[in-house]
Amino acid sequence: MKHFISVNDLQTTDVLDILDLAEHYRKYDHLKTQKQLFAANLFFEPSTRTKMSFIVAQRKLGIESLDFHSETSSMKKGESLYDTAKTFEAIGSDILVIRHEFDDWPEEICSSLNIPVINAGAGKKEHPTQCMLDLHTIYQEFGHFNKLNIVIAGDIKHSRVARSNAQTLRRMGANVYFCAAPTFMDKTLDFPYISMDEAVGICDVMMLLRIQHERHDQFASVENYHQAFGLTLDREKRMKKSAIILHPAPINRGVEIASELIECERSRIFQQMSNGVLIRMAIITKLLKERGLNDENFIEKRKTVVAAR
Ligand code: NCD
Repeated sequence: MKHFISVNDLQTTDVLDILDLAEHYRKYDHLKTQKQLFAANLFFEPSTRTKMSFIVAQRKLGIESLDFHSETSSMKKGESLYDTAKTFEAIGSDILVIRHEFDDWPEEICSSLNIPVINAGAGKKEHPTQCMLDLHTIYQEFGHFNKLNIVIAGDIKHSRVARSNAQTLRRMGANVYFCAAPTFMDKTLDFPYISMDEAVGICDVMMLLRIQHERHDQFASVENYHQAFGLTLDREKRMKKSAIILHPAPINRGVEIASELIECERSRIFQQMSNGVLIRMAIITKLLKERGLNDENFIEKRKTVVAAR
C-alpha cells in the first residue's frame, strides 16, 4: 500500500490487515509505557492569551494539544457544541478546554462527558482560569487577600472576569468595590460602587476591564469615557505607593487606561499573562491527578480509562 486514496485500491488482505491492526491498538493502548495525553482546545470566541497559554501549559506538561477552528469545523454543517465535545472525547481527548459565548454551556455539556472540561470563558458569566491567575498575581504581591481593597473598574455588566473575580476575592477576605459608568453597572451583583476618583485613593489593586463591545451596542465616546471612568495619568499619581494595576487584556489603550501606564512600575499586566501559563498547568495537573492520570500511577489508571471507552 503506497498511498491511501481509494478503497478500490485495497486488496482484501489489506482490508483485513487494517481491521486487525485497529483491534490490536484498541486492546494494547493501555500497555504503552510512554505517556500520551491529548487536550482539545475548543474556542468559539476570539482569544490570544487564554488559548495560547493553555497550549503552552499543555506542551510544558507533555500533553499534546489538539487545535480546533470553529469556522472550519463540522459546526458549520450544523453540529452542536455537545456533539462536538462528545466527538473529541470519543477520539481520545483526555481533557477539553472550551470558550463559548453562551453563558450556560457548562451546565449543558459537562454532566454527559466523562473527561474533565475546563471553562476558558462562558459568555458574560464566568472566566475561572482568569480569576485564578489574577489571584495568583495578587498573592505574589501581598502574600494574602485579607482586607485588601480591590477595585474592579469598567464594563461590569458584560464582564465574566468581573463576575468570577468579585465573588472569589470576597470569599478570600478582600474588600471588593466596583466602579463603572451607569450603563455598565450591574445592580444584580451585591458589591458597592465607588467613583474612579475615590477608587484610586483607597485601592491596593486596581483591576481594569475593557468595554465588551461584542456583547452589546452601547457606544461610549472614547475621550469622555477615559476622563470620567478611566485610569488617567493624573489619577495614577494618587494611588498608594504599594498599589498595583491589573488588566486581563486585550487592552483598549487610552480608554480604560492611559497608554503610558500599561508598562508602568505598578502594572502587573504582563506578569498576569506569564502567571496564566503556570495557573493553567496547575489546574490541568490537578484535574488529571483526580482521574489518576498523573505521572506516578499513570499506566495503572490509564488501563481503566481506556477500557471504559
Ligand atoms: C478576557 C475575556 O475573554 O473575558 N480576556 C482574557 O481572557 N484575557 C477579557 C476581555 O476580553 O475583555
